[in-house]
Amino acid sequence: MNSIFAGLSTTIFETMSRLAREHDAVNLGQGFPDGAGPEDVRQKAADAVLTGWNQYPPMLGLPELRRAVAEHYARFQGVALDPDNEVMITSGATEAIADALMALIEPGDEVVLFQPMYDAYLPLVRRAGGVPRFVTLQPPHWRLTREALDAAFSSRTKVVLFNNPLNPAAVAFPDEDLALLAEYCVHYNAIAVCDEVWEHVLFDGRKHRPLIGFPGMRERTVKIGSAGKIFSLTGWKVGFVMAAAPILKVVAKAHQFFTFTTPPNLQAAVAYGLGKEEGYFTGMRAELQRSRDRFAAGLTELGFATLPSEASYFLNIDLAASGIGEDDVSFCRRLVADHKVAAIPVSAFYAEDAVTSVVRFCFAKRDETLAAALTNLRGVLRRG
Ligand SMILES: Cc1ncc(COP(=O)(O)O)c(C=O)c1O
Repeated sequence: MNSIFAGLSTTIFETMSRLAREHDAVNLGQGFPDGAGPEDVRQKAADAVLTGWNQYPPMLGLPELRRAVAEHYARFQGVALDPDNEVMITSGATEAIADALMALIEPGDEVVLFQPMYDAYLPLVRRAGGVPRFVTLQPPHWRLTREALDAAFSSRTKVVLFNNPLNPAAVAFPDEDLALLAEYCVHYNAIAVCDEVWEHVLFDGRKHRPLIGFPGMRERTVKIGSAGKIFSLTGWKVGFVMAAAPILKVVAKAHQFFTFTTPPNLQAAVAYGLGKEEGYFTGMRAELQRSRDRFAAGLTELGFATLPSEASYFLNIDLAASGIGEDDVSFCRRLVADHKVAAIPVSAFYAEDAVTSVVRFCFAKRDETLAAALTNLRGVLRRG
């Protein structure tokens, strides 16, 4: 068996979900909203199943969806894409990431990764033969520094796998950091694979700045998005990958033998959804922001020190600043067993030099769920 996959242990996500079930806990570990998602988008999918095309769609994706993706990014991010040669539809962002890594990495190439990182990244980089070089980000601001980039980049750097906004840190990188990263990608002639699945889930009026829009990046960025996050339908697994034609052509070669296509009915519904008016997107953000504020206020009232949540479904607490001496893993185990709330220790997102004082909660839940979690958390910090 392949040692990279055979050597992977049970993830903390599975462990915490199992413990949540065993202890009948409120599960704020898993990152998905508990609402049903927009009804009109779901209706389009249902109609397409009944009356639409249910055989293999084109390998690159339905032309109507590729056009909708190009129009969407022109409208929201000012990125001009050729829908015929620069856009491909995948089965979720995860497949797009796998396609890009398999297509771009030669064994022995160095790949710059930023910790904390999404769990799929490292095994996929390794399986593609890439040699990981880590940049370790630190709370509370998780900023990029010239010093850290100097240490990670080299003449062997082929790919930079970057996630913005960043899960689990819940921050959107400022322009200054993106410009710095672009400068290094250009200098070292590296391709940036930029996972931007959280691009629409931004709070407090923030606007997403795609890395592909920075000087020198148009021809060297693979931009990745996910309908799952845009429409709060995480199970749909409809992703988009966008890159200059010479890069996309090779990424498509990987896609054709991994999944080849993605369900056409879901693609049709996503094509409709991407064309929705501004109000849908601002409404989705406003609702999530309300949940974030509600949960953050509750945690603060209980004495927890929260970290800024600028984007995504997540809010982190700092254990040390909350007066908790334990590390994140023992705290989460105690929390689920004794207080019936499941959360995720952020150290799980590091391969080395882990930050062990931050714990992630998913606030994209109904008011009752958040209220139940806050009630259960009441006994954790006994003050006074
Ligand atoms: C950073 C990041 N990348 C990728 C994904 C997966 O996206 P998809 O479900 O479209 O494969 C997630 C899901 O949480 C994520 O947080």
